[in-house]
Amino acid sequence: MEVKKLFDGVYLVDGKLATENRDRGNRVYGETLVNYEGSEYRLWNPYRSKLAAAIINGLKEFKFTHTSNVLYLGAATGTTSSHVSDIASKGRVFCVELSERNMRELVRVCERRGNMFPILSDANNIENYSKDVGQCDIIYQDVSAKDQAGILNKNSSMLKSGGYAYFIIKSQSIDISKKPEKVFDEALNEVSANFKVVEKVKLEPFDDLHMFAVLMKK
Ligand SMILES: C[S@@+](CC[C@H](N)C(=O)[O-])C[C@H]1O[C@@H](n2cnc3c(N)ncnc32)[C@H](O)[C@@H]1O
Repeated sequence: MEVKKLFDGVYLVDGKLATENRDRGNRVYGETLVNYEGSEYRLWNPYRSKLAAAIINGLKEFKFTHTSNVLYLGAATGTTSSHVSDIASKGRVFCVELSERNMRELVRVCERRGNMFPILSDANNIENYSKDVGQCDIIYQDVSAKDQAGILNKNSSMLKSGGYAYFIIKSQSIDISKKPEKVFDEALNEVSANFKVVEKVKLEPFDDLHMFAVLMKK
């Protein structure tokens, strides 16, 4: 078996993307666990996680580290945020999710992981959680909402200056009547007062509905 480090906390285990499991013996979404030389790795499925798809497709600006404090908007049931929790092992991951149904599963994941904190809220209503979050190093936003740019702008007040935002834009949630490229451009334009675009990654063949953009706070 071969384990190769790609980034802080991110590995290729026999060529497959993985993070080191901080909740040994437990799976979040049926992923494969691999034990090797005293560590347990969770294989990270790019068809289930856009961050995994972006890494496999050559994402360069990977800013998550062991000590990152992350505001994760649209955490759903914890698929990607649990991998972020593996990576930010000495940091904190604040997981905002609107759906009560998803939140019920997410809470179970957070209970097993000391660095993941569930927040049941609309990400538009930052007054519900901004005091708890404070200032973070990274915002990861993957919300299937119409006003995705507006949500990022509001939450940017919790991002340190020079911090990074991973902005996953779903054109179909914004306007199905326009071409996706136009919707992506408009969303990026809408956040341009607060952010500079540093990288864009296409997610095909894993996903063809989203644009994955990396932004730096001005
Ligand atoms: C595509 S899913 C997220 C998948 C997740 N990021 C992952 O990779 O594991 C989008 C999520 O955004 C949530 N959502 C939609 N609008 C929201 C809002 N205004 N505030 C918070 N969450 C929202 C949905 O309930 C859904 O769980």
